[in-house]
Amino acid sequence: RIAYVNGEYLPLEQASVSVMDRGFLFADGIYEVAAVLGGRLVDNAGHLARLERSLSEIGIANPHPVEEWVRIETELVSRNGVTEGLVYLQVTRGVAERDFTFPKDTPTTVVAFTQAKTITDNPLAETGAKVITVPDIRWQRRDIKSVALLAQVLAKQQAAEAGAAEAFMVEDGSITEGSSSTAFIVTKEGTIITRPLSNALLPGITRRAVIALAAEFDLKLEERLFSVEELHDAAEAFYTSASAFVMPVVSVDGKVLGDGRPGPVARRLRELYFTFAE
Ligand code: PDD
Repeated sequence: RIAYVNGEYLPLEQASVSVMDRGFLFADGIYEVAAVLGGRLVDNAGHLARLERSLSEIGIANPHPVEEWVRIETELVSRNGVTEGLVYLQVTRGVAERDFTFPKDTPTTVVAFTQAKTITDNPLAETGAKVITVPDIRWQRRDIKSVALLAQVLAKQQAAEAGAAEAFMVEDGSITEGSSSTAFIVTKEGTIITRPLSNALLPGITRRAVIALAAEFDLKLEERLFSVEELHDAAEAFYTSASAFVMPVVSVDGKVLGDGRPGPVARRLRELYFTFAE
């Protein structure tokens, strides 16, 4: 596998960064994950716009214009022969003597790699995913796609140990989002609900696409807070991300939703996204 590090394409085994990298020492950096389908990047403009925003929110200058990012991504996809999978991009504040304040005139560290992965024929989408709810113990700027992911690592591990694929995180009784996805429910009346954007959650690129599809295909959707109780009582639930696309949820905290199979709204949106993803 070929990875990208600061302008160079290297075999993954030779791709490395310094132990003094601020990404390693302070999680002082941000990342993006975009899907590849049929060899093409999905919703890439949205991912690169969010990369720019995340960097700007933490005061790191974007090291590349959009065209250069696209060149790096395309080069990696092609060198690795990825037809379906993910592209990962990471930018940190660079290598410097360990000191909390920003270093001066230090170049950023840029790392990118691909992961081959089955997205379309994911067997989990056929059976539907189990999720658990966990307290959202993250910081207050979850709108920034920071590489500081310890709370998500712990949540996902807790889910895995409970036999679940995802953890939905809870703050003040409401779901914020999944540990690596946006959370949705469908009420018994058939309305799709997802939390409005704020600093409490990541502005999902797949979320935005799903909201646009719901509008285009006349599915009723509301952006509002929803509680754990509403989730437990929902007709359906699903989550979205670059890696899961639209993933139907069939049980929450061991409680089965509907008939225990992927619901019609989640299945429809999954299909629409495959058909219309750009
Ligand atoms: N995670 N919320 C969180 C906390 C996420 O980490 C992600 C994505 C999303 C969904 O965003 P998008 O639709 O733009 O992928 C929401 C990526 C896939 C990851 O960390 O691997």
